[in-house]
Amino acid sequence: MKSSPLFSLFFFLLSFVAKALPLFRTKHVNSIFSFGDSYADTGNFAVLASPALNDTIPISKLPYGETFFHRPTGRCSDGRLVIDFIADELGLPFVPPYLPRNESFSQGANFAVSGATAMDFEFFVENNLISPFTFNCSLNLQLTWFDELKPSLCNTQEDCWDYFAKSLFVLGEIGGNDYAYMLSFGWSVEQAMTYVPRVISVISLAIERLINEGATAIVVPGTWPAGCTPINLAINMNASIDAYEPRTGCIKELNDLHRNHNLQLHIEITRLRLRYPPVTLIYTDYYSLVIDFLLFPQHYGFIRAPLMACCGNGNNEYNINLTEACGMPGVSSCQNPSAYVNWDGAHLTEAAYRYIASSWLRGPYADPPILFALRN
Ligand SMILES: *[C@@H]1O[C@H](CO)[C@@H](O)[C@H](O)[C@H]1NC(C)=O
Ligand SMILES: *[C@@H]1O[C@H](CO)[C@@H](O)[C@H](O)[C@H]1NC(C)=O
Ligand SMILES: *[C@@H]1O[C@H](CO)[C@@H](O)[C@H](O)[C@H]1NC(C)=O
Ligand SMILES: *[C@@H]1O[C@H](CO)[C@@H](O)[C@H](O)[C@H]1NC(C)=O
Ligand SMILES: *[C@@H]1O[C@H](CO)[C@@H](O)[C@H](O)[C@H]1NC(C)=O
Repeated sequence: MKSSPLFSLFFFLLSFVAKALPLFRTKHVNSIFSFGDSYADTGNFAVLASPALNDTIPISKLPYGETFFHRPTGRCSDGRLVIDFIADELGLPFVPPYLPRNESFSQGANFAVSGATAMDFEFFVENNLISPFTFNCSLNLQLTWFDELKPSLCNTQEDCWDYFAKSLFVLGEIGGNDYAYMLSFGWSVEQAMTYVPRVISVISLAIERLINEGATAIVVPGTWPAGCTPINLAINMNASIDAYEPRTGCIKELNDLHRNHNLQLHIEITRLRLRYPPVTLIYTDYYSLVIDFLLFPQHYGFIRAPLMACCGNGNNEYNINLTEACGMPGVSSCQNPSAYVNWDGAHLTEAAYRYIASSWLRGPYADPPILFALRN
């Protein structure tokens, strides 16, 4: 059988595109510093919350960690997170959590804490937004930990600039919890929406602070489609039909809030690029890929209902019982987590995080893709 020249050309180009990115030699990254919340926490919350919240927020119990580590590590997933896959791709060890303070941080440190907010704790105190689950752990506090660590990494300013010029910084996702806390106290989405510029400005100041420390490559992820998390869907179980997006089944106004946050964050990053031309600022997108998972689950091998949590104990389409969370006694996980998008009602499975990492490293859901930005 003779194939048409056009057909061959198509495959030639396709294979070229597929191989193009590895053709760029990636600049050597010596260390990764990560800030954020439960989507990036590799063990800090487990230290902060112990022992008071061991049983209420049981992320330090199996089946958390069952897939890859085969033990709970404090990660909110069955296995690895996006930050783990990024470290792996860049030839670095998994970024160690800072708070146990028991490892060398010369190849990086992770300051992310589950439940962390962008805005300072004082904002939540002043506005009566405090529950046992609100921690005094903001982005600024994480930056003070970074300051505290710095003298062990480098001494003179020139030294530090050299050091951090060879580091990759990942700032987020952060901000999602700010809105979640407001909404959990009955604030309307409209009210929460008015705080988007303030949350963005906190993130923007943090980016500038890192640039002043000598950061030359910073990844800044947007937030989540919170309207698609099984836990929020379960809380709003009896909403009227027009509260849902017709194609995804997610809660429309929650997703509007996070799309608005992401749009403004992306604009702010574009503004900062003009201000700091030598710095590589990378906006990455969780939101769009999560929506893709829901619209085209089969394409990713997510053969189970994509809005259903793998680990949970609910007699409903989301597998959520608000009083029986993953990690509690008697609550089990599904047989095959990689067939699910969602792990515990709020966080994703390792399988989903792997796709997200790949799309941030190679595109399309990153502006620009990390490996492209770090090419020599
Ligand atoms: C709470 O969990 C931490 C981390 O797994 C563990 O070290 C600690 O012993 C636990 N405390 C209690 C009271 O169970
Ligand atoms: C540091 O402590 C954590 C628990 O807090 C433990 O999981 C980890 O293995 C320890 N790391 C080293 C290098 O001892
Ligand atoms: C939050 O923690 C910071 C740093 O540890 C501390 O300075 C501040 O007073 C705390 N805020 C509140 C309201 O407890
Ligand atoms: C939804 O409505 C059903 C039936 O009226 C009720 O049993 C259930 O508790 C409600 N769920 C929530 C989360 O409000
Ligand atoms: C959730 O779990 C509690 C006990 O932990 C149980 O009483 C309740 O019936 C469960 N709710 C649903 C909707 O399954």
